[in-house]
Amino acid sequence: MDSFIINGGPRLRGRATISGSKNASLPIMAATLLCEGQTVLRGVPELADVAALIKLLQKLGVSVTRQPDGALVLQVEDEMDCHANYDLVRRMRASVCVMGPLLGKRGKAQVAMPGGCAIGDRPINLHIMGLRQLGAEAELIGGDVYLRSKRLTGAEIFLGGPFGSTVTGTANVMMAATVARGRTVIEAAACEPEVVDLANFLNKCGARIEGHGTPRITIDGVSQLKGCEYQVIPDRIEAGTFMMASAITNGELRLSNCRLEHMLAVVDRLRAVGVNIEKEDNEVVVSSARRLEPVEVTTQTYPGFPTDLQAQIMALLCLADGNSIISERIYPDRFLHVAELGRMGARLRREGPTVMVEGVKRLTGAPVMASDLRASAALVLAGLIAKGQTRVNRVYHIDRGYERIDEKLASIGADIKRVPQSDEE
Ligand code: EPZ
Repeated sequence: MDSFIINGGPRLRGRATISGSKNASLPIMAATLLCEGQTVLRGVPELADVAALIKLLQKLGVSVTRQPDGALVLQVEDEMDCHANYDLVRRMRASVCVMGPLLGKRGKAQVAMPGGCAIGDRPINLHIMGLRQLGAEAELIGGDVYLRSKRLTGAEIFLGGPFGSTVTGTANVMMAATVARGRTVIEAAACEPEVVDLANFLNKCGARIEGHGTPRITIDGVSQLKGCEYQVIPDRIEAGTFMMASAITNGELRLSNCRLEHMLAVVDRLRAVGVNIEKEDNEVVVSSARRLEPVEVTTQTYPGFPTDLQAQIMALLCLADGNSIISERIYPDRFLHVAELGRMGARLRREGPTVMVEGVKRLTGAPVMASDLRASAALVLAGLIAKGQTRVNRVYHIDRGYERIDEKLASIGADIKRVPQSDEE
């Protein structure tokens, strides 16, 4: 297990290129299970989660190769195996995205229930309910969900849950419905750009989907999908993390491959904090040169402020000039970073799904533990500005979702170094 050693202080300056979106790539890769022929995906980042899904797709009979130019080439060779086992799903929850395509194309899917994770319960009841309404029989045996159907049939499905819409649940039902008989309408569908990207990919493969990006998606089933060439959207969460890295060090960054139209809530909150964010040619320029203002932040489904940036903005607000309030509406228990930031001198008080942040003048470097992907990113941000040295342990979490973040940050002036476990002891 690697760690990051960060010496806080340097202002970040220069250019960084945002990678393709992890959370768009994973369901799009799973969707190739539906396709005849070859698919070429550009912009799929090299991440541990992508590697885990490649392993699962290979087990399910898909050949997957990375071309020298980085493009991922996928083609179904064998349709016999329909089992996503516990070992794979437990390590990478987005593995559940194979459920809809396997059921739609192969008529059956056996997928391990993912179980709990560091950010909360994360059930998949809505995925199963939606697939049942398309006509699948579902039962739970030995921790695996068995789904079966000769041919799915379109239906009107309400997919809302206690915390709003579901991103991968919408993806699963939408993928299965592309090859169902007749019309499916998904109400309370997730509107996230990653769902829109998946729908755009499926349409390019021959699907007939309309309304993606709104809460009502209509899908007219087709008999067959054919692989295509597709460019995945940039990662809005990585872009937001780099904006906050710039802000926390009072730096100036130019980000390329960054789509501001996918991040208006983030831009709104960062501008309220006092960060300048401007578009110049094809780049986004992020700068700030003064003490940051406190703000209120509430995470919501898209287009609201994303839960996947809650931990990072908390790190930033630790240094604001006053008291901020952060409310988490998607994962009420996603606060493992609170205690770790506390070890660095942050003044945080949690009450249920809300954290009061009392801004301090400085954070102090400390050994801290990464607990999940975005919490780890928050600790790295805090380390960039903390006085002295911060060691972020267990950075395999961050490698799941940020492509070479240590190298990217070092190239814009951060003093960050990856050390393998043997060097630490
Ligand atoms: C996706 O997870 C993302 N993962 C998550 O990113 C992200 O945090 C989340 O959406 C919310 O934006 C991928 O896209 C691969 P949900 P997903 O179903 O689809 C409840 C990251 O750091 N719910 O939209 O699993 C659920 O508990 C990750 O990159 C049900 O009640 O999230 C939560 O409160 C972590 N029943 C809310 O809905 C269900 O069947 C939203 O979850 C499904 C979800």
